[in-house]
Amino acid sequence: MLRSRITGTGSSLPEKILTNSDLELMVETSDEWITSRTGIKQRRIASEGQFTSTFAVEASRRALEMSGIKAEELDLIILGTVTPDFPFPATACIVQHEIGAVNAAAFDLSAACSGFIYGLSIADKYIRTGEARKVLVIGAEVLSRVVDWTDRNTCILFGDGSGAAVIEACEGDTGLLSTHIFSNGSYWNTLYQPGCGNRNPATNRSVIDDRLCFIKMEGNDVFKHAVRAMEEAACTALAANGMTPSDVSLLIPHQANLRIIDATAKRLGITEEERLFVNLHNYGNTSSASIPISLDEANRSGRMKPGDIVLLDAFGGGFTYGSALMRW
Ligand code: UT7
Repeated sequence: MLRSRITGTGSSLPEKILTNSDLELMVETSDEWITSRTGIKQRRIASEGQFTSTFAVEASRRALEMSGIKAEELDLIILGTVTPDFPFPATACIVQHEIGAVNAAAFDLSAACSGFIYGLSIADKYIRTGEARKVLVIGAEVLSRVVDWTDRNTCILFGDGSGAAVIEACEGDTGLLSTHIFSNGSYWNTLYQPGCGNRNPATNRSVIDDRLCFIKMEGNDVFKHAVRAMEEAACTALAANGMTPSDVSLLIPHQANLRIIDATAKRLGITEEERLFVNLHNYGNTSSASIPISLDEANRSGRMKPGDIVLLDAFGGGFTYGSALMRW
């Protein structure tokens, strides 16, 4: 049976670290509050001259190197981001140029924190239909440039970085078993960037006075929906494959808040440390990059063995959510 399989992973993070203690000097907050409410201890922040494409290119090169394929062999590049280098062209096209993927079609995808799962889902469909054989899926963000550094409700949460995966067609029973993606647009304005699109174009008023080009979020609403939606996405994946949570070797959830991760894990009954991947204490919420960065860390540290059942589970603005189940 023709399947898609991840044959290489890579990630890239800015060197600059912003700790909770650093944030104490910027807004009225404390390490204790941030740690107990979110689990985050530090996040990485892009420096001047570093962009979403900077990290996407580096993560992609590392994923290609691991897979052993050349950039020219890629048929498709899909990049999930809500913080592209420019409104257009697609950041994926910049990545295509930088890595020399001259034979690939390249486009960006806007599904917030679920961007990587949405990208995997599209890659899987292209591969299964025979339209593509080698696809690069990337999640990349520089959220620090759309975070309101005067808003303590949001500025403590987010970080920058990128993760990428090379997906290839393969025969056999390893690889992606299923992907499921969902949206609930009735909550579109619960987590969003109100300005700098065409409803509120960039003007002195929207950008400077009204601070509309920064992330706005109803944190409590997002929290409640995230737990329910991530449970639904995970259960849908397991049911579609005739599996139960006890079959899962490793759950890699979107890294938004440790309380969201723990509540989801508890509902699923996947609470053992060795079955639950967590790295948000180091990076905060990197939106579409969170799952591929985690996947790369889990891969390189030997957390996944051949035959392991790995469940990816995401939730984000839109709302969007989704899951991917694979046999490693
Ligand atoms: O990828 C999806 C992206 N977004 C998320 O996943 C976010 C989901 N939501 C959350 O993670 C949580 O809702 C937050 C971490 C954002 C907030 O945690 P919470 O437990 O829901 O706190 P809260 O918003 O109910 O605020 C509790 C109190 C408030 O003070 P009062 O009104 O009780 O006096 C806030 O003003 O904590 C205050 N507060 C802070 N205090 C210190 C809010 N932010 C901070 C802060 N430091 N940074």
